[in-house]
Amino acid sequence: MSGELLKRVECKLEEIPGLGTFIVVPKGLEQVIPDTTAISGVDPRGEQTLYRGYTIEDLGMNANFYEAAYLISRGVLPCEDEYKEFKKRVDYWRGRVPEKVYDALKMLPKTHPMYYGAYGALLLGQLYAPEWSLDKDSLYEHQIRLIAQLPVIFAAAYNLAYYGTFVRPESGADHAWDLLRMITMREPSALEARAFESSLVLYMDHGFNASAFTVRVVASTLSDMYSAIAAGIAALKGPLHGGANEEAMKMFLDAWRKAVEKGVPLEEYIVEYIKEKLARKERIMGFGHRVYKIKDPRTDVAAYYIKQLKDGDMWLKVLKNAEKVMWESKRLPSNIDLYTAILYYQLGIDIPMYTPIFAMGRVVGWTSHYIEQVLDNRLIRPTEKYVGPVGLKYQPMEVRCRR
Ligand code: CMC
Repeated sequence: MSGELLKRVECKLEEIPGLGTFIVVPKGLEQVIPDTTAISGVDPRGEQTLYRGYTIEDLGMNANFYEAAYLISRGVLPCEDEYKEFKKRVDYWRGRVPEKVYDALKMLPKTHPMYYGAYGALLLGQLYAPEWSLDKDSLYEHQIRLIAQLPVIFAAAYNLAYYGTFVRPESGADHAWDLLRMITMREPSALEARAFESSLVLYMDHGFNASAFTVRVVASTLSDMYSAIAAGIAALKGPLHGGANEEAMKMFLDAWRKAVEKGVPLEEYIVEYIKEKLARKERIMGFGHRVYKIKDPRTDVAAYYIKQLKDGDMWLKVLKNAEKVMWESKRLPSNIDLYTAILYYQLGIDIPMYTPIFAMGRVVGWTSHYIEQVLDNRLIRPTEKYVGPVGLKYQPMEVRCRR
């Protein structure tokens, strides 16, 4: 690893008399390794980002949802019997979201659908609480229920709140195809379903990202898996994490509208548009990454599918020109969210569902991190450095508020 690629971050040792030595790490935990994981590892150069030993590009191009999910969960790619059994169980649970959940979803207000997922995960946790245990087989069972049912909850709740209707899972259908059908409420083509499936595989895991780390913190308290996933969804929702794919598409649509007004093609106008945003010191969503400093390898796989979908060549030119101007001005590479934004737009998916789709893939990684954490657990509890006032004494309101 070149020393120039990563920031020179400082870790300081601090002696606190009578207590011992404390390690002061960089804000945001940049370049801090709090634990090991065998699930996935992210390479700053973008060359060796691995799921259980396989590169993310290899799996994004070749593995289907069940294979990649099995690999991330169990550590190896499945053989035929394991594959059939895993698929059967995912498909079984997808079709068995408890009716009480659907009833509850019908009451939800029209808000951002990430709320629906967190709410739904907690609801499942309550309904499955009698069966909850930290036994390994039971953990795998709850993992499959979450992988299968969380996406259905997102799709049903969104369509109920936004369109007043929803479609139920289709028994025996392929997971990714069925989810895209439930989200868009129309039958996708094989190409559309595969493009969507590939994006779920690309999103499945990504080291100690903010939401996976959140899940591990909750897991370390031995709270249940459903509560940990609700917390993961809350962390993913923010625009600096999963919310970036929605913000990126809003940016492209804004640029497109302005390009049409000016009579210039979007692929040309995007350069001026980004330069103006940078001059105003705005962040360009879909660019930059805490770990990747040169390239996010997931973008090449997404580009392969973008090219084959509606207006693919035009969108690839827009992406390339946006990347060129960002690299020349800020030395920042694009990230997967810039590409999935376009891909989901091409698939006719409503923008508020982009981050929920990220969660539909990432639930595989989150639940795997939960299991890895609880099977070798130690409470995650850092120590703070208090810098507030000291020595104050409580005074009743009439005294402390006297002027
Ligand atoms: N646009 C413009 N400037 C940026 C951007 C951006 N997207 N990202 C970072 N910078 C600048 C930032 O202003 C700062 O400049 P300076 O040193 O002059 O103040 C410098 O780069 C370092 O930024 P930082 O916020 O300290 O870097 P970080 O490692 O904490 O940030 C990030 C990582 C992803 C939060 C950030 O790059 C960002 O906000 N990107 C946009 C949001 C986004 O696309 N998020 C999706 C991440 S990938 C999918 C996922 O895993 O969730």
